[in-house]
Amino acid sequence: MSRLLRIKPMSMLTQEASETGEHTLKRSLGALNLITLGIGAIIGAGIFVLTGTAAATAAGPAVSLSFVLAGITCAFAGLCYAEFASIIPIAGSAYTYGYATLGELVAWIIGWDLGLEYGFGAATVASGWSGYFNSLLAQMHIHIPPQLTATPGTVLVFYQDQWMPLASLPMGISDAGLQHATGLFNLVAILVIVVITTVLVIGIKESANLNTAIVIVKLTVVGIFIALGGYFLLMHPSLAMHNWHPFIPPSDGHGHFGLNGIALGAASVFFAYIGFDAVSTAAQEAKNPQKDMPIGILGSLAVCTVLYILVSTILTGLKNYKELNVAAPVALGIKVTGIGWGELLVNIGAVFGLGTVMLVMLLGQSRVFFSMSKDGLLPKWAADIHPRFRTPWISTIAVGTIVAIMPGFLPIEQLSKLVNIGTLLAFTIVCAGVWVLRVRHPDMHRPFKTPLVPLVPILGILSAFYLMTRLPLITWTVMIGWMIFGLLIYFGYSIRHSKVQKLAQPAKGN
Ligand code: ALA
Repeated sequence: MSRLLRIKPMSMLTQEASETGEHTLKRSLGALNLITLGIGAIIGAGIFVLTGTAAATAAGPAVSLSFVLAGITCAFAGLCYAEFASIIPIAGSAYTYGYATLGELVAWIIGWDLGLEYGFGAATVASGWSGYFNSLLAQMHIHIPPQLTATPGTVLVFYQDQWMPLASLPMGISDAGLQHATGLFNLVAILVIVVITTVLVIGIKESANLNTAIVIVKLTVVGIFIALGGYFLLMHPSLAMHNWHPFIPPSDGHGHFGLNGIALGAASVFFAYIGFDAVSTAAQEAKNPQKDMPIGILGSLAVCTVLYILVSTILTGLKNYKELNVAAPVALGIKVTGIGWGELLVNIGAVFGLGTVMLVMLLGQSRVFFSMSKDGLLPKWAADIHPRFRTPWISTIAVGTIVAIMPGFLPIEQLSKLVNIGTLLAFTIVCAGVWVLRVRHPDMHRPFKTPLVPLVPILGILSAFYLMTRLPLITWTVMIGWMIFGLLIYFGYSIRHSKVQKLAQPAKGN
């Protein structure tokens, strides 16, 4: 039992953090790079795709309150991540924090769980990306064979010059007389992961620069949506009043709408916030991690929270929430303003913007495996650094290959819920970890301190767990299955190869 609770000594972590040389990651990222890395990871399929579904099926116009609720949960966790990232600036993120505080088994659980967040997260966004990419191509009258744009068995119809899932056909429109096709697999989603994996293998600095450029495009598009949509609503207040009324639609008796609906919406749009914690996975590539990590994590979270509340408020003002259950709700919203280039702009912004989300997620996933491998919990090859590019190239390619397959075959709604539950679980562990470390090492130097410990960690744990309870049973079942699979690997391989275990029992060898 004590083996499972063995913690990674702080001395070992500090030594790893200060390692330099050709077999280590390159320290090239500053505070601004880290904030853009965060925004690059955060703004994506959540706001561009899932907001519409959450408004239409769970919260109505009060989806903006869902964003507030999810944002508060993330703020508690973000404050805890910031403290950890400032004291343990190592590439593994929550995994490393867990190892230093709650022991090896918990660390393994988080590391494995982060696979749900980053790996499945990248897959979810690839799925959303393919929707926007296909829509952009359709605007140029280019049509990929529809069978190669959707997951197996999805029924598609050709409506208004583009292929769309039958389920997204606007209410009142009959599919009789429309051309039909059935999805085989989502080739576009697979290919985009292949391209991004290649960029990541070539190098972090190049990836960060590309990310910065795209984040500017993404923020511009979101800014234009807010400005154009906000101005239009100011000029047409009666439209806004009509669409926002009732702001909290009455409950349907099955947990949708009403106050429960706000919570249900929060558990869904929570996806939109995921990514700020990915900043912490780049800690070993930061020039000054102690100071810049908290700035990167909290700064990117703050910027996105404000933008989301604005976007969701304006979107539900422009278009009635009942009509927002579509693949590209933001593009649909801007159409209302009558500005012809608006839809094209949003499509372009989403295509580039969702690209950076996948980039950071895949970066995060390979860095977590890198850290686990360095600790002996995964085979050595996962920590192999490319001599020229100085990136963990084998783990990047391995992750990219597995992630590429998922969106090809699984739909976005299922993937996103799994990502949410995995991330919320990681949040609860990180919050608990901050508290434990305060008790065990009260005098440790903390460049950034989470305020009001233990209140903030406790609120972080409770709010994350509350959102988890809003997710369906099937999501819980898959998560538990994933965790059991992970534990089999832990007990079958990792526990016998762990460096921390070997350090503690030098005489026994092995
Ligand atoms: N927050 C990211 C997104 O919305 C994962 O795409």
